Amino acid sequence: MKTVDWMNFHEILNKKISYIQEVLDKYLPKEEGYPKTVIEAMNYSALAGGKRLRPLLMAETYAMFGGSEDLIEPFMAAIEMIHTYSLVHDDLPAMDNDDYRRGRKTTHVVYGEGMAVLAGDGLLNYAFETACKAFDGAQSLEDYKRVASALKVLGKKAGIYGMIGGQCADIEAENKPEEVTGETLLFIHEHKTAALIQCAMMTGAILAGADSEAVDILEKTAYNIGVAFQIQDDILDVTGNSEVLGKPVGSDEKNNKITYVTIYGQEKSAQQVEVLSNEAIEMLQSFENRNIFLEKLVGKLIHREK
Ligand code: IPE
Ligand code: IPE
Ligand code: MG
Ligand code: MG
Ligand code: MG
Repeated sequence: MKTVDWMNFHEILNKKISYIQEVLDKYLPKEEGYPKTVIEAMNYSALAGGKRLRPLLMAETYAMFGGSEDLIEPFMAAIEMIHTYSLVHDDLPAMDNDDYRRGRKTTHVVYGEGMAVLAGDGLLNYAFETACKAFDGAQSLEDYKRVASALKVLGKKAGIYGMIGGQCADIEAENKPEEVTGETLLFIHEHKTAALIQCAMMTGAILAGADSEAVDILEKTAYNIGVAFQIQDDILDVTGNSEVLGKPVGSDEKNNKITYVTIYGQEKSAQQVEVLSNEAIEMLQSFENRNIFLEKLVGKLIHREK
């Protein structure tokens, strides 16, 4: 069992985030050639910062199941590209119409809407081009199988049965306060947000060679982490500080979104974040091969302010 010096949690976290930054620098496309402008727009949002939570969860799950670097880096870059594309599109005037993200003007404000649409498309497609580079690091037939199986999860969780499906339901729920039930809202949160968190943890485990039983437990664990993460996002949209968040507060109210806060109120929502997160930590503790840093990270997300 790995131990973590609790006092040094933030120091360790910062080192891990710097490493993720290096991985992104390595895999993001060079700003050259005829598509230079769209590549600049892609990198503008991808390199703006952000918590890098999804590659972090992926790498920590990979390490938990004994993986070493060879297969994981292209997938770490790929999931952050997909997440970033989802944000670029989410901020467009046709969706949430926000002009501030990761502490900067949003991509469409700087590059125009057409280029922001293409930057999102570019990030999504390049994510798969990048993830396929993991085949180059495969050293055995078993490695090839792991990469192929991780690609399937990446496609599904990012797609219409995952994140895109959640964003679809999110748009359809706008301006319908009396029609949107708690059940519908949970569907939205599970898909628009938890799906990519599930993707991160499941692919990390798959690439490290975890068995299907373990991957199933991680899918449930990441469901809890992801739903809790989006409930906290709903809370911060009301109570947060836009300087700290790097994005506007009040976006949900402006767009007449139904959120956990509008249905259940702040206090019950905060309790839900805690319950779901503690259940996730218990699921992580049930593994023989524990990752204490990962458990601590999930605990820290409960009271996150950004
Ligand atoms: C924002 O995700 C969108 C949600 C799913 C809530 P993050 O809060 O992880 O955004 P970054 O990556 O840190 O910018
Ligand atoms: C977005 O949810 C989830 C995505 C798939 C991008 P939100 O619309 O609440 O995310 P923020 O608050 O803009 O980051
Ligand atoms: Mg949105
Ligand atoms: Mg939004
Ligand atoms: Mg939000």
